[in-house]
Amino acid sequence: MRSVARRFGRIEKSATFAVLELVQSLRAQGVKVLDLGGGEPDFDTPAHITAEGAGALAGGFTHYTASRGIPELLTAISRKLAEDNGVSVDPATEVIVTPSAKNALFTALTTLLDPGDELLVPTPGWVSYHSMAHLIGAVPVDVPLDGDDGFRITRELLESRITDRTKVILVNTPNNPTGRALDAAEAEAVAAVADEHDLFVVSDEIYEKIVYGGTKHVSPASLPAGAGRTLLVNGFSKAYAMTGWRLGYVAGPAPVISEMLKVQQHSVGCAGSFVQRGGLAALTGPQDAVQEMTDEYAARMELIVAGLDSLPGVSCPRPEGAFYAFPDIRGTGFASSAEFATWLLSEAGVAVMPGSAFGPGGEGHIRLSFATSREVITEAIDRMATALHQRRR
Ligand SMILES: Cc1ncc(COP(=O)(O)O)c(C=O)c1O
Repeated sequence: MRSVARRFGRIEKSATFAVLELVQSLRAQGVKVLDLGGGEPDFDTPAHITAEGAGALAGGFTHYTASRGIPELLTAISRKLAEDNGVSVDPATEVIVTPSAKNALFTALTTLLDPGDELLVPTPGWVSYHSMAHLIGAVPVDVPLDGDDGFRITRELLESRITDRTKVILVNTPNNPTGRALDAAEAEAVAAVADEHDLFVVSDEIYEKIVYGGTKHVSPASLPAGAGRTLLVNGFSKAYAMTGWRLGYVAGPAPVISEMLKVQQHSVGCAGSFVQRGGLAALTGPQDAVQEMTDEYAARMELIVAGLDSLPGVSCPRPEGAFYAFPDIRGTGFASSAEFATWLLSEAGVAVMPGSAFGPGGEGHIRLSFATSREVITEAIDRMATALHQRRR
């Protein structure tokens, strides 16, 4: 059999799914594994959203829609962007509804990057950005952030990686895995560097609604320097616990959106029709459930941060958003985060992600998801404490 396309040589399977598979196989052997590796809300989709989607399905709203999405949802997205983010977009020409934020990102990168073009990716960063770039023959360029400086993005760090092939800066705020949210100065630095070097910004804002302690979400698209060059990607998975619905969107300058629409038309066609109606209910209905879920994440965040910080050799900053703790484990004496994660799974039955899965900037850290119950968090911390103390003896 002939081999598949050469570019697959550089593409790894998702590290998150690899941990999930390991957890499943251990569970099949009867091991009681606590899974803090995954990244999806443990809540069900709020009932009024499910009812709208089910009603649309039952009512025969089961056909293709316009490729860019149903007009009511495009209008609701444009209103949301204006109200929440201070971003003004024309629903008719500057937004596309996509089947997931992941798909919106892939379509955006496919549209912006030719083979060989470079994409700046701050690391630690979400596992899929690199693979998406490789899938289209583009070159992801790591911008390693400094954990001791709170993983801040600076103008100097970005500019040190710019070459004449650089075309896009990708940012994710609030960030998976660090939990950092861009502050106004960082967002300004991203937009200004992009403006001065004539680059696009792709801004992944999927965790926007899950922020803690008064953190204010800032989109580079809301800043004058970023406005005409940012593709803002967001979706429904995290804020509305709609991971299985696969619904997201992208907003940006009309000429780029119009090219992106061609990718969408020739790849997925459109997002699911009744799914879009669920999304409409999410944006236009009551937002209490979003607040309730975020309040619960906040309580879990306090629990996990305090627990991790009390472990020998571990120090855990408070995340500003998303639902991940990203402690520094360098004081535990392990050679690498992968070694620590493997040891933790076999000794304590606790599944976490090694920081190195998020690029070189993640080494020395692990990621624990607190999109799981307080009981699981408490037991995981207890097991980690026992295993770490035993090892020290
Ligand atoms: C940073 C980041 N972006 C995008 C996504 C994908 O979201 P969606 O479910 O809409 O594809 C995730 C999901 O884990 C994520 O962590």
